[in-house]
Amino acid sequence: MAKLLQYGMVGGGPGSFIGVAHRKAIALGGKAVLVAGCFSSKIEKSLKTAGELGIAEDRTYADFKEMAKAEAGKLDFVTIATPNNTHYACCKAFIEEGINVMCEKPLCFGIDEAEELVALAKEKDVVFGVMYGYTGNAMTKFAKQLIAEGKIGDVINVSAEYPQEWLIDQLDPSTSRTAQMSVWRTDPKVSGISNCVGDIGTHIENTVAYVTGLHPKRVAAKVDYFGHPLDLNANILVEFNNGASGNFWCSQVAVSHRNGLKLRVYGTKGMLEWHEEDCEYLTFCAKGEAPQKMARNCGYVYGRAAEVAHIPSGHPEGFYEAFSNIYDSFTSTIAKKKAGEPLTEADLDFPTCVDGMLGVKYLHAVIDSGKNDSAWREVK
Ligand SMILES: NC(=O)c1ccc[n+]([C@@H]2O[C@H](COP(=O)([O-])OP(=O)(O)OC[C@H]3O[C@@H](n4cnc5c(N)ncnc54)[C@H](O)[C@@H]3O)[C@@H](O)[C@H]2O)c1
Repeated sequence: MAKLLQYGMVGGGPGSFIGVAHRKAIALGGKAVLVAGCFSSKIEKSLKTAGELGIAEDRTYADFKEMAKAEAGKLDFVTIATPNNTHYACCKAFIEEGINVMCEKPLCFGIDEAEELVALAKEKDVVFGVMYGYTGNAMTKFAKQLIAEGKIGDVINVSAEYPQEWLIDQLDPSTSRTAQMSVWRTDPKVSGISNCVGDIGTHIENTVAYVTGLHPKRVAAKVDYFGHPLDLNANILVEFNNGASGNFWCSQVAVSHRNGLKLRVYGTKGMLEWHEEDCEYLTFCAKGEAPQKMARNCGYVYGRAAEVAHIPSGHPEGFYEAFSNIYDSFTSTIAKKKAGEPLTEADLDFPTCVDGMLGVKYLHAVIDSGKNDSAWREVK
């Protein structure tokens, strides 16, 4: 039996969102076991989570720098699931100890920080993933496959959106209701230069890049703040590196929407459409033909999309499975690297720190454009 990898986590303490999702996704894959953590910056909270998870007290920390030093040589990887303001220092602390990293997005605040992390990861030869989770969905993988095979021809336009409504009360100063979930996102000290574009707009940029292979070359953005320090809504025109056009809309004040990530990719010979809230399906339409709604893990689905199937078609897979698929490639890369075995394309099918860096560059170009009357800005 293959030996389980040993991992640690920073973040994911009591009441938190995404660290818990990481733990469930890793457990689903069954390739790694949690052995250490700094689940909160408060030791009593960190110990509470550690107790619930059966983590030894002497491997529970309130300071991630202390954890990185103490766990050097013991951990195969660390998952960083803290708010944005800690990502840079936390990634750096673990990379410097030679520990492989899976970090949440956005990778960090500044472009210089992102470039430094990419260079440091290379220098220390660590495996460095960034959790852009939607690239783990079977049907985004199938979209990528069909586009690479030329099924829709050359991509000429991408229309993508990510609307949510959870911050709608921010538009009404008279309401006493406040959003309960992770309000740190609206605080520049914790969130960085952006709230909405950083939190969900970067998912659009990355998922489109994964599926199409295209990256924004320049952007022109109308970014809406509604009197708040950080953005809540943005409409972004995109010119891709192949000359194709795009329009990306992200919002946290879009009434009726929960997690409405939707991509529509138009090519010279056809189109593809994928929606996160209906993520088991991919709609394909060839020019002149009726649209086909294709379902995950059916006989006509092949390639990576078929390889990542957990359960038979019709039994819904979703968010956790997508994360788990990313971890499957990430942990496989780590295990094979340790064993000196060659890596396959499937092993390398996870978002990396370079993708994280591109996300930070995109974010800065969008926010800069928004602050300059929607002037075009190069993504660089
Ligand atoms: N990939 C995705 O789909 C996705 C989804 C949600 C959130 N995220 C990202 O995940 C990160 C966390 O978001 P969240 O919604 O889970 O936030 P959260 O507020 O729910 O949880 C953050 C956790 O980090 C802990 N923490 C804060 N500072 C810490 C420190 N210095 N040391 C140790 N622990 C610390 C908190 O105690 C808490 O347990 C953010 O960067 C966010 O952008 C990504």
